[in-house]
Amino acid sequence: MDKLEQFRRTDYCGTLRAGDAGRTVSVCGWVQRRRDLGGLVFIDLRDRTGLLQLAFDDSTPRDIFEKASALRGEYVIAAVGKVREREAKNPELPTGDVEIDVTELRLLAKAETPPFEIVEDSDVKDVVRLKYRYLDLRRPDMQRMIALRHKIVKICRDYYDEQGFLEIETPILTKSTPEGARDYLVPSRVHPGKFYALPQSPQQYKQLLMLSGFDRYFQIARCFRDEDLRADRQPEFTQIDLEMSFLDEEQIQEIQEGFLKRVFQEVLGVEVATPFQRMPWREAMDRFGSDKPDLRFGFELKDISDLVKDCGFGVFTSAIEAGGSVRLINLNGHAADFPRKKIDKLGDFVKTYRAKGLAWARMLDGKVTSSYQKFLTDEENAAILERAGAKDGDLILIVGDAKDEVVFAALGALRVECAKQLDLLDPRDFRFLWVTEFPMFEWSEEEERYQAMHHPFTAPMTEDEDKMLTDKKNCRARAYDIVLNGTELGGGSIRINTPELQTKAFQALGLSQEDIQERFGHLVNAFQYGAPPHGGLAYGLDRLVMLMTGASSIRDVIAFPKVQNASDLMMDCPDVVDQKQLDDLSIAVTAVEEG
Ligand code: AMO
Repeated sequence: MDKLEQFRRTDYCGTLRAGDAGRTVSVCGWVQRRRDLGGLVFIDLRDRTGLLQLAFDDSTPRDIFEKASALRGEYVIAAVGKVREREAKNPELPTGDVEIDVTELRLLAKAETPPFEIVEDSDVKDVVRLKYRYLDLRRPDMQRMIALRHKIVKICRDYYDEQGFLEIETPILTKSTPEGARDYLVPSRVHPGKFYALPQSPQQYKQLLMLSGFDRYFQIARCFRDEDLRADRQPEFTQIDLEMSFLDEEQIQEIQEGFLKRVFQEVLGVEVATPFQRMPWREAMDRFGSDKPDLRFGFELKDISDLVKDCGFGVFTSAIEAGGSVRLINLNGHAADFPRKKIDKLGDFVKTYRAKGLAWARMLDGKVTSSYQKFLTDEENAAILERAGAKDGDLILIVGDAKDEVVFAALGALRVECAKQLDLLDPRDFRFLWVTEFPMFEWSEEEERYQAMHHPFTAPMTEDEDKMLTDKKNCRARAYDIVLNGTELGGGSIRINTPELQTKAFQALGLSQEDIQERFGHLVNAFQYGAPPHGGLAYGLDRLVMLMTGASSIRDVIAFPKVQNASDLMMDCPDVVDQKQLDDLSIAVTAVEEG
């Protein structure tokens, strides 16, 4: 064997155990740490599977010993030697029973001192981590999350393949598909003044594939949305995108439950019970103030509008008179956890959801103290406590507003915030829920018109079809979301499959015949050629991985994510381009960001 051949890797660092003692192995990786103990040198060698101790002592050839003494953190090396049992074992490390008695060593690359230490959970500012993402990704926790993401995708491909789905790619350069965000545009050189849009989702293509007869489609699809970023949102993200023909919502959901059951079982060893709970949107809002309720804890909302509509407290009565409502949550048994100061903070919290304030009643040691009771009669006060099911030790929090949405948003968020503060959110407790019967339309304050709540290709519930033009507020859709622990994991619907109904849906959204032809002519016309009944959904893959790994942001499960202002700190983009490139694209730039 020549020298180079013997450095060919035989084993990953993290895999060696006492049973390997006596074997001659070749390993490679990065130097985590060097310890010099006079005549002894130890190197912790790291690769993606873990750490392994390399040992150099007085039996090591001198030149190798000297090479080892000169190694520094993050140097890349290869080492050959015999596995032997350690004298001092390290129970913290899976390879802690063994070490390599090194006989050959090669330096493969030197390294500068990195801007932060490559260790688990290193306490480094996000901007630094993301600027040096390639180093950040070396950290074991990041390696684990990216590997787990791979595993989830692999199971996804296997599962849907077994269920008869075909993986089909759809274009990235396309025409705008409305999913509620702004488009990223790509200028065309050959068609001056014209633009492609990057897909917000493959929605129309996948529906057209059903029309083409593919019957069951899936794709691990990259989607692009120019919208405000949050912990669970990125401008480009990945969907597990699915579409099926000749199935109703129950059958579609059943296939999904099979996938989620399998992926949780194989990746986390967690058994999730199926079928999942189903809850109409209206019930989710009334009980949890949210269309993506977290079911890991109670604190459900109760409407007390009927009890306080004629009371002497203007805050309550004016909200109801203006068409809104007054609702409460009961933090059962937690009054003692929320002294006055903390309640005041909760008041500030609900204001960030546009609530004007927070009324409360505290029952402690047989006494009721409350922010509102002096304005109400004894009967009214008693009726509220009874509706809340209140008993000693409880804390009742009340929000009233002229707008129901504000009451729901504020109390919905408050119940989660309180659960967080009370440490009730166990990340290993997975509560799935299908939210169904979504409204077909939602009113946009900004645009002052109704918009599609899911997207305009969603079918109305059969019994609500007549309401599409005449009673938009009460028209329900055959749409469903899959919700996990307060996060919308995915969403989908049964689609419209006739040109007549699709045209009616566009008209309901205020589109003229010309608009319809220009923007969606391809789809409406296609429907004239025999579209099967079809439906589907898309999961946010990043969100699924985030919840399964317990990561606090989807950034941690995306190899190269973008930051809050949608830039990539490592590549330093978006960036300016040459005048020549702009000229080729017939583009005149009217403003450039400074710096
Ligand atoms: P929807 O818009 O609900 O539906 O998206 C489906 C799922 O994608 C994830 N998601 C995101 N993840 C990260 N960053 C984002 N900016 C982001 N936006 C959405 C969410 C969401 O539930 N075409 C339809 C699906 C269908 O009807 O089949 C669609 O895209 O987890």
